[in-house]
Amino acid sequence: MSNLTIKPSRGLHGAITLPGDKSVSHRSVIFAAIAEGDTLINGFLVGEDTLNTARAIESMGIVIDGLGSSRLTVRGKGLDGLAEPSGVLDLGNSGTGMRLLAGLLAGQDFFSILTGDQYLRKRPMARIVEPLRTMGATIDGRSGGRLAPLSIRGAGSKTRAIDYTSPVASAQVKTALLLAGLYAEGETTVREPSKSRDHTERMFRFFNVEVSEQGIAVTLRGRQALRPKGPIEIPADISSAAFFMVAACIVPGSELLIKNVGVNPTRTGIIDVLLSMGADITLRNPREQAGEPVADIGVRYRKLRATRIEGAMVPRAIDEIPVLSVAASYAGGTTIIKDAAELRVKESDRIATMAAELKKLGAAVKELPDGMEIIGRDSLDGAMCESYGDHRIAMSLAVAGLAARGETVVSDTEWIDTSFPGFEQLLRQAAY
Ligand code: S3P
Repeated sequence: MSNLTIKPSRGLHGAITLPGDKSVSHRSVIFAAIAEGDTLINGFLVGEDTLNTARAIESMGIVIDGLGSSRLTVRGKGLDGLAEPSGVLDLGNSGTGMRLLAGLLAGQDFFSILTGDQYLRKRPMARIVEPLRTMGATIDGRSGGRLAPLSIRGAGSKTRAIDYTSPVASAQVKTALLLAGLYAEGETTVREPSKSRDHTERMFRFFNVEVSEQGIAVTLRGRQALRPKGPIEIPADISSAAFFMVAACIVPGSELLIKNVGVNPTRTGIIDVLLSMGADITLRNPREQAGEPVADIGVRYRKLRATRIEGAMVPRAIDEIPVLSVAASYAGGTTIIKDAAELRVKESDRIATMAAELKKLGAAVKELPDGMEIIGRDSLDGAMCESYGDHRIAMSLAVAGLAARGETVVSDTEWIDTSFPGFEQLLRQAAY
């Protein structure tokens, strides 16, 4: 078990480059595995979550050169090239890995078992299991298939297309069903209450697969071959950049440049929320890489004011709400976060865990069933905090500690490696 000790910072400075986007990294190896021929991937996230997905792909007979580095070559075998894995596929802590692969496996002509760590085995799976059963897969699991481990007997060539309205805005659900839909004759449509991240749609197009979008409905015709337009250049993860953005917003004297960050509009809720709080953020050198918008992000300290986070903003900032609750704790006024009950089923119950830990630092936080109410303070006090086995809680508390009086210790920080290896070193480089 490792701890992170955070002393107050006098400002974050310099230009930093962060690891690759987690969502895009998962998708890159999955899509490349079922593409025709080789796909080169640059900037792959060498984190536990994405490595587990890549290892699962290898267990299905796909060769990946360079695994363990950020530069991979995946030797794709086409839509029907995967082989039945001889062992259980362990996705560790990763909900994305498990749900995306469940979709892919539902379309295969073989049997597989998916499991994960103690946290992942508590997370809801019915959201994918029910529609994937409708598409023809035979899926079982604990609690009638609501919890992993999950066993999947894929429907193969008998996979049925579906027109599905998801009760939650979830890119994981959308992607799982579209991956299964790739194995069906006819068109699969997924509708969701508001638009979730669209990396899947963009990556399908990068692999020359047609996907149509009408409002919040996404439609894909089955049995299309995947052929990459070129190497996949993965930008830095805006969800990782979010910790540094908020840190620079709350530590007086900060002026930071975060280079080469993915700024897909379905992910930039963090920027829009911070701007609504009065933050000094500029996007520089905008460009496109492998179908994804990318920019450098400049952040300068400026005292923040309270805001509201609700409705369609929530899926655009879902993974950043923990660190936004830190920003709100240092902002003037009362911030309201609503419509965010999904936070309760992430790597931890992020409403409960953030509220409990921010209170230890002296913040004025009230838990709501679907969010939080936070009255900002001029300063917080360092304290002993815990991560609850959740990488984003650990990093959010480290950021809170940078602007607090005295020392903050966050325990169980090894979980940070699931999404952001090198976080501590980069933080120390920028903040001291
Ligand atoms: C992800 C989608 C989000 C997000 C997760 C990654 C993805 O989950 O929280 O970290 O890569 O598709 P949901 O889409 O289930 O909300």
